[in-house]
Amino acid sequence: MKVLLVYYTGTYNTRFLTDRLEAALRARGHEAERVEIRRGTPMRSAEGFDAVGFGYPIYGFNAPLPFWRYVKGMRLAPGQKFFIYKNSGETFAMNNASSRKLLRRMRGQKAAFAGEYHFVMPYNIHFPFERDFVRELLQKDEKLLRVLVCDLERGTPAHIRSNPVYNFAAAAVSVQKFGGPINSFLYRADEDKCTLCGKCAKNCPEGNIRIEGGRVRFGHRCDMCMRCSFYCPQDAIRIGFLQGWKVNGDYRLRDALAEGPPAQPYITSESRGFYKCFIRHFADIDARYAERFPDGEN
Ligand SMILES: Cc1cc2nc3c(=O)[nH]c(=O)nc-3n(C[C@H](O)[C@H](O)[C@H](O)COP(=O)(O)O)c2cc1C
Repeated sequence: MKVLLVYYTGTYNTRFLTDRLEAALRARGHEAERVEIRRGTPMRSAEGFDAVGFGYPIYGFNAPLPFWRYVKGMRLAPGQKFFIYKNSGETFAMNNASSRKLLRRMRGQKAAFAGEYHFVMPYNIHFPFERDFVRELLQKDEKLLRVLVCDLERGTPAHIRSNPVYNFAAAAVSVQKFGGPINSFLYRADEDKCTLCGKCAKNCPEGNIRIEGGRVRFGHRCDMCMRCSFYCPQDAIRIGFLQGWKVNGDYRLRDALAEGPPAQPYITSESRGFYKCFIRHFADIDARYAERFPDGEN
């Protein structure tokens, strides 16, 4: 198969997943090309690809605006396969609603649904995940990637069900259009900490940050992707009304994956609170993997 991967990423979790997906496809002898969406990315034709994969992080139960703006302009041929690989920090069922517009658009073009897969990745907002949890998550994600590629080959798509209540609620909280532009009036680089290294300005996918007159200046074209504050080496960026939920620091995902699973399982049948939902999430991935690879084939 020749597969085109079209994705948006804020703090590079989705880029990492795309790297891993590309590796999983190539390991099975398939070809893969990719497009990372940022401001000004030229429209990529899907012609000549057997399947198109759409990847995005979930923002407030929705797909990010730049992602949606880009993919709604893409044309797939009737019968051309498409699949979704989305990711988020939680397993909330309301996250299921995030692909509703994309599904509608692609079905409107009579493209052939080839599956939808939800990966959990470490939070880039709210609170940082502990290292052992990240290591365990990435192992499960690897299994789910294998499931995805197997399903694509077999032509047996996996469905994620949403419902009208989730869809309505997700649409009602899709504040990104106004949230970023309004919140950006409150962004500041703390002058006591900021060294004017320029990393935030260089990396912003919207080109929304400038270093000018010895200060960091923020425009109002913000998508709330958190890349600037997440990767700031001095943790100097204040992110307005989301400041209390700021996460700063690289998870070094490649290293975490190479480290393998933690010595003791992080999620157990005793897990409670935030972690409780991962008991089911992990069991579901294990069951799907075991069904496709009964001999634990690698
Ligand atoms: C503004 C914003 C909103 C988010 N909303 C959700 C959400 O509704 N549900 C969830 O589980 N995770 C949410 N997250 C977490 C991200 O989906 C998650 O960390 C993702 O892996 C980030 O991927 P990226 O590094 O490719 O941007 C949100 C993150 C941000 C920055």
